[in-house]
Amino acid sequence: MAELPLVGESEAVPSAADDGTWLACVACGSTFSPFDDIRYTCDDCDGLLEVRYDDHPDWGDFEASPTDRGVWRYADALPFEKGVSLPEGDTPLHRVPRIREDAGVNRLRVKHEGMNPTGSFKDRGMTVGVRVAQEVGVDRLACASTGNTSAALAAYGARAGLETLVLLPQGKVAAGKVAQASLHDARIVELDGNFDDCLDVVQELAGRGEAYLLNSLNPFRLEGQKTIGFEILERFYADNGKYPDRIVLPVGNAGNTSALYKAFRELVAAGAMEPSEVPSLTGVQAAGAAPLVEAVTEGNDEIRRWPDVETRATAIRIGNPVNAPKALPGVRETGGTAVAVEDDAITEAQRALAREGVGVEPASAASVAGLKKLRDHGTIGADEDVVCLTTGHLLKDPDAAYEAGGEPVPADATADAVLNAL
Ligand code: F0G
Repeated sequence: MAELPLVGESEAVPSAADDGTWLACVACGSTFSPFDDIRYTCDDCDGLLEVRYDDHPDWGDFEASPTDRGVWRYADALPFEKGVSLPEGDTPLHRVPRIREDAGVNRLRVKHEGMNPTGSFKDRGMTVGVRVAQEVGVDRLACASTGNTSAALAAYGARAGLETLVLLPQGKVAAGKVAQASLHDARIVELDGNFDDCLDVVQELAGRGEAYLLNSLNPFRLEGQKTIGFEILERFYADNGKYPDRIVLPVGNAGNTSALYKAFRELVAAGAMEPSEVPSLTGVQAAGAAPLVEAVTEGNDEIRRWPDVETRATAIRIGNPVNAPKALPGVRETGGTAVAVEDDAITEAQRALAREGVGVEPASAASVAGLKKLRDHGTIGADEDVVCLTTGHLLKDPDAAYEAGGEPVPADATADAVLNAL
């Protein structure tokens, strides 16, 4: 792997530094104080911001205890000691022997982020993001969402006693997610547009000071999501005495891809892992919404925004991955790649996971579908140790689950009728 530079890291700690934490623009290197003003992008060039620290902890700094588990166990790598917690993280790393056999890789684990409190990895970002919202002092939290972010924002906002506003693409959000946002008392507005349109609007509202933005453009969200990487590496190492060669994950806005890359860079900076040990980040998008795959395949530094996107995996029905400037270097510098998969392959992977007892929503299964495709093409080697990330729970999208599963058979209420029906 290349040098893994933290942009601006070589510069002296800026005067804006606040208790060893600051914000740096990944495009121009400008630095800002983290909590004095609310900003989501660089004042100078509008580039993406990244949270930076004076020090990076080593593995030994992350002590587990009965009362300190999940995301906040990694507080030494986060901007705060504790946040509004439900609690989140500490998700299982499943063995899936039949999928491993079928894919033909050396080792395969599935990190099931659907086991978080609201059923997706978004909870990891929200626990940190809402803590920051409390720090900067805001009344209203807002996001655009394909569903899971809205569910997590609604739950964490409710827990914190803050008003929440969510903008959803009308008719394109899975039932379980809308139900969550609704019951956790978010103000839900459905826009006549896709997710990218919703994000444009919520950014404008945030820019006008109407709400605190908690999409993954907010760099503090990614700090929480970084802990997915810590958990995978720690647990995989404990089981196998080495780190995985590759992590395969679904991509929408490419927030997780950026967050995992940051986790790796910080561990390397701390001397906790060698650059050569960093897993290859491998992103998977649905074929109908694959602008990041296009950029990786064509070697472009910029993403071409896809105005029309469509996929059964509604969570990743996104045509403008806003975190691409952070994620593209992550994919390239770790020796990873990106691949697009058809909806039918996603559903087949969803079934394969379900047959191992792992219930996921369609977008999550994209990682396993991507693994299979890249094995078939020989891009992923038979000798590799792979971790697939599954990002959301089966119950998020009951309609998709029902369509992918078998039909119930009607029968009279007698034992014989049941046996006949079989
Ligand atoms: N998987 C699931 C289940 C998701 O909900 C999302 C994003 C992703 C993958 C993609 O992750 O953006 O970090 O690349 N969902 C967002 C939302 C957009 O609004 O819930 P990413």
